Amino acid sequence: MLIVFEGIDGSGKTTLAADLAARLRAAGHAVIETREPWTSPEGETLRRLLSQADRTTTPRQEFDLFHADRRLHVAQVVRPALARQEWVVQDRTFYSTAAYQGAVGLPVDEILRSSRQIAPEPDLVFLLDLEPEVALQRIERDRGSSTRFERLANLQRVRQLYRDLARRHRNFVMLDAEDPLEQLKGEVASLCSELVGAP
Ligand code: TYD
Repeated sequence: MLIVFEGIDGSGKTTLAADLAARLRAAGHAVIETREPWTSPEGETLRRLLSQADRTTTPRQEFDLFHADRRLHVAQVVRPALARQEWVVQDRTFYSTAAYQGAVGLPVDEILRSSRQIAPEPDLVFLLDLEPEVALQRIERDRGSSTRFERLANLQRVRQLYRDLARRHRNFVMLDAEDPLEQLKGEVASLCSELVGAP
């Protein structure tokens, strides 16, 4: 099973992904925890670009880097784990590209179409929905800095695109990221159990 967490930066998806992976392991399942951008050369280039204050790339160049990174990640990590019948708990997939690169002007449907040629559709996607204002407050509190992707107007577009994706896809479950963390952990576990059979 492929379970993905999506949401804007600061929504808590990384914490919730780790908690679900721990619960699946405690229930006796083999689990791979992974994330995109991954650690391919393109992924490392992206991390460097994303930490720069000024935009130095076009949306299309960013798309190409995310796409190349994803192609390797899927081929080397995700598909082999799924073939071994393991659980893959993943932080972000191509829905991030649809929302973030869609927010800077690339056509969402084109992003989805080309992504689906290289990456599997997740069995379940948890979208952590959050007001960008709240997300920025959390990010500033936790990290004291922000990348350009974390700016408000952009994040509002990203959030809207995520909500549109959730409406259009049956594998999405939208959660309110302002709910208490312990409650969210419980909700993720029980929805996962109800919809895909574990933990
Ligand atoms: P991530 O490593 O999840 O950031 P963090 O751990 O700081 O939350 O993602 C880095 C940034 O890359 C994030 O702002 C979202 C963006 N991103 C895209 O724009 N497109 C993509 O396809 C992916 C996977 C991420």
